[in-house]
Amino acid sequence: MNISAIWQKIDEKLSRAALRSADKIPYTAIDGVHDDKALTDITWWTNGFWPGLMWLMYVGTGRDVYRTAAEKAEEKLDAAFESYDGLHHDVGFMWHISSGVDYRLFKGRKSRLRTLYAADLLAARFNPMGRFIRSWNDDHDGWVIIDSMMNIPLLYWAAKEHRDKRYEYIARLHADTVMRTHLRPDGSVNHIVSLDPADGRVIETFGGQGYGVGSSWSRGQAWAIYGFALSYIHMGEKKYLDAAKKAADYFIACTEKTGRIARIDFRAPEEPVLIDTSASAIAACGLLELGEEKYRAAALDILSALEKYCDFNPETDPLLLMGSEAYHGRRHMNLIYGDYFFAEAVYKLMGNKFLFW
Ligand code: GLY
Repeated sequence: MNISAIWQKIDEKLSRAALRSADKIPYTAIDGVHDDKALTDITWWTNGFWPGLMWLMYVGTGRDVYRTAAEKAEEKLDAAFESYDGLHHDVGFMWHISSGVDYRLFKGRKSRLRTLYAADLLAARFNPMGRFIRSWNDDHDGWVIIDSMMNIPLLYWAAKEHRDKRYEYIARLHADTVMRTHLRPDGSVNHIVSLDPADGRVIETFGGQGYGVGSSWSRGQAWAIYGFALSYIHMGEKKYLDAAKKAADYFIACTEKTGRIARIDFRAPEEPVLIDTSASAIAACGLLELGEEKYRAAALDILSALEKYCDFNPETDPLLLMGSEAYHGRRHMNLIYGDYFFAEAVYKLMGNKFLFW
C-alpha cells in the first residue's frame, strides 16, 4: 500500500473539511455533512477527537487551516468544564489530544491549565482501596471499563508536568488493576467489570458495548492493545507490553478470517455480519507501537483493508465509514474517532514521531 498517497488523500480531504467544520465539534456525519456536538452535548466523550485530528494533521503537514480548527474546538470545549456531572473517566479522550497537544506544541498557559484541570478531574476519581479509577458517574462506584486505559496517559503527562508522582502512581495502580480484572487468559478482554469498591475484588462482568456477558467487544480489544502499549511507552514496564501483545495476538487471530476488518464482537453470532472499522483503526495504532515486525505487518494489512472503507472525496466530511457505536447500538456509520485513528496510523507510518497520547 502506498502510505504517502493515502496521506495526501487524507490531507486533501481534511483540509477542506477543516474549513467547512471549523466552527463545529463533529461526532459523525449525516449525508456527508458533519454534525456538531458543541450544539447538542459539549460533554460528549468524543469531543477531543476533532481537535485531536486537526492537531494531527497540523503536525503532519504544518498547514494553519488545521491549527485554526483545533484552537476553535479547544475553546468551545471550555463549556464542558462547567458541567461537572457531565464529565467522567473520558476526560483524557477529551483534553489530552486537544489542549494537551496544543500545550505540548506551543506552551500556552490556557492550554496547560485546561489539561491539568482535566488531569485533576481524572485523578480525583481514583479509589485507593480498590486501586482503580472509577468509570462513569451515578451509583456505579465500582465499575471500570477497558476504554479507561486510553485515558490514563493524561496522568502520566500530569505527573511530569507537575513534577508530582501521585498522578503516575494512580495511573499505574489503575493499569495493574485493569490487567488483573479485564484481560482474560486467552487475551480477550471484558468491557465492563464491576469491582468491590472496598478491596477491588471482581463482583461481576458485563458485555457493555459488545454482544453480551463473556463476549468480546472488538473496540474494547483495540483499546486494550493501544492502552497497555501506551502504559509501556510511558512507564517502560514490560508487563504492560506483554499485556498489549497478548491482547494484540488475540485481535489478530480474530480478524484473520474476516479480512482484517473487526466484527463488532468477536463472539457474537456469525450472522448478521456486523463490523466496526473504528476497532481496526485503533488496533492498527496500537500494533504500530509494539516494536515487532509481525505487528507492524498486521497493522499494514489492517490499514490496506480499511482503505476500502474510506471516503476520500474532498467534498464530503466523513473519512472512515462503517464504524459502529455498539453491538446493540447504532451501527455502520462514520465515527470521528474512526477518522482520528485511521489518520493517526497513517501519520505514524509517514514517520511522524510526536506521540499524541
Ligand atoms: N465507550 C467508548 C467507546 O465507545 O469506545
